[in-house]
Amino acid sequence: MAKYGFGQFKADVKADIAVDSRRRPKLWFLTIWTSVRFRLLFLYRVARFLSGVKGMKMFLPYLRMRQYRLCGCEVSPRAIIGRGVLLPHPTGIIIGQGVTIEDNVTILQNVTLGHLGSGTEEDAYPVICEGVAIYAGAKIIGNVRVGKGAKVGANAVVLKDVPDSYIAVGIPAQMKAPKA
Ligand SMILES: CC(C)(COP(=O)(O)OP(=O)(O)OC[C@H]1O[C@@H](n2cnc3c(N)ncnc32)[C@H](O)[C@@H]1OP(=O)(O)O)[C@@H](O)C(=O)NCCC(=O)NCCS
Repeated sequence: MAKYGFGQFKADVKADIAVDSRRRPKLWFLTIWTSVRFRLLFLYRVARFLSGVKGMKMFLPYLRMRQYRLCGCEVSPRAIIGRGVLLPHPTGIIIGQGVTIEDNVTILQNVTLGHLGSGTEEDAYPVICEGVAIYAGAKIIGNVRVGKGAKVGANAVVLKDVPDSYIAVGIPAQMKAPKA
């Protein structure tokens, strides 16, 4: 995994503040103070940064505990999360260690992104491409790719790839082409 340096950490945090500050550009300090979304992403980014610094891994359990106490979420420091991620109701969200989330993804409450738990080598983690929206309660599990601009419906369980712009709904999720 590529090293997550201080420069990238700083730029990501700035971008996270900018997302919440769009509505109140002059009150960016309110974002830091009051936005649960920002705080959750900040704890994740600090943990990701510290996990690459020698001797700092001992702080990771503390940061994980802070995520739980803040909003009942857990985002692994080994996940890769891009910029512009929207978390309208950040509670009950679990993002496992090998997950990749590209830019401008929306994740609603009680979403789980993780592995199947079979313990095999193929048991990899999902890749969520740019502009995807994952609705309340959805689970995306295993070595799947959710394509650009796709939607994952509320409570869907996604076990296979979702093509770009498609809608995945149901258990197990069925792929529906976007309506023209
Ligand atoms: C995924 C979602 C956004 C799809 O919206 P859309 O692009 O407008 O798509 P449609 O409503 O046209 O639905 C497409 C098809 O999927 C079905 N479908 C949509 N959402 C579904 C769901 N969550 N579970 C099962 N089937 C679903 C529809 O019945 C429709 O089926 P059909 O093609 O047989 O008629 C939406 O249905 C959804 O799940 N919203 C959840 C919103 C949410 O989480 N709200 C909480 C806010 S706090």
